[in-house]
Amino acid sequence: MAAERTQPGTSARTGVVWEVLVGGLARLAGSTGGGALDVVDLGGGTGGFAVPLARLGHRVTVVDPSPDALASLERRADEEGVSERVRAVQGDLGSVFDAVAKESADAVLCHGVLEVADDPVEGMGAAARVLRPGGLASVLAASRDGLVVARALNGNVAGALTALHGPTPRRFTEDALVELVVAAGLDVVSQHGVLLFADLVPTAAADDPDLIELELATASRPEFRALATRLHVLASRPGA
Ligand SMILES: C[S@@+](CC[C@H](N)C(=O)[O-])C[C@H]1O[C@@H](n2cnc3c(N)ncnc32)[C@H](O)[C@@H]1O
Repeated sequence: MAAERTQPGTSARTGVVWEVLVGGLARLAGSTGGGALDVVDLGGGTGGFAVPLARLGHRVTVVDPSPDALASLERRADEEGVSERVRAVQGDLGSVFDAVAKESADAVLCHGVLEVADDPVEGMGAAARVLRPGGLASVLAASRDGLVVARALNGNVAGALTALHGPTPRRFTEDALVELVVAAGLDVVSQHGVLLFADLVPTAAADDPDLIELELATASRPEFRALATRLHVLASRPGA
């Protein structure tokens, strides 16, 4: 029997990204006149997004350097009955074109990967080149400003100041993330903050069913989103 797993859309940790992504894919599928899209999930790990996307009917290629993560992905895809729509390829941002052709995808996911890339500018550029004209990029990265807030609220005021004044490698401000996306030749479609309250509320409130609604209601508002733990940018490749 398929293992019960929390679906991204029902979790306060992933709900915002899922809503934004699925909305973007639905609009794209509508505008291309088709249903199933070609999606590449760079650093897609164990398939937390890839498998649910395949369940929606999309064809997903996951490129990840970790054989263990890919093995878990394949098991998960099998359990969910979507193996024929999920391709697992060992590789990384630097070797992505060994695994997928340039301009071959309708959408590319780059979630939690720019933080671990040797060169985020190169990595984002490679992600953008995977896309066909008109394709969508979903970029999720750890926030520098969210780290400042989290450290201060944990009583680590000196650490908050260190994060604020930087350099803070592997963390991005909203402006820096947008700059990366634009430098890769993409147009920003929307910006959201992910995990503002879910990472700040006391443990007792972590399972509060209203938490996802609060995350969704605040995620796009500039006064909240810049302080979230992660930043999400949806962007499109011009020229469709
Ligand atoms: C934080 S996890 C994110 C997994 C998934 N994208 C998610 O959001 O749940 C980072 C993933 O990136 C992979 N990774 C590490 N270095 C990478 C690189 N240079 N290029 C592509 N993926 C990489 C890791 O194996 C891991 O699966």
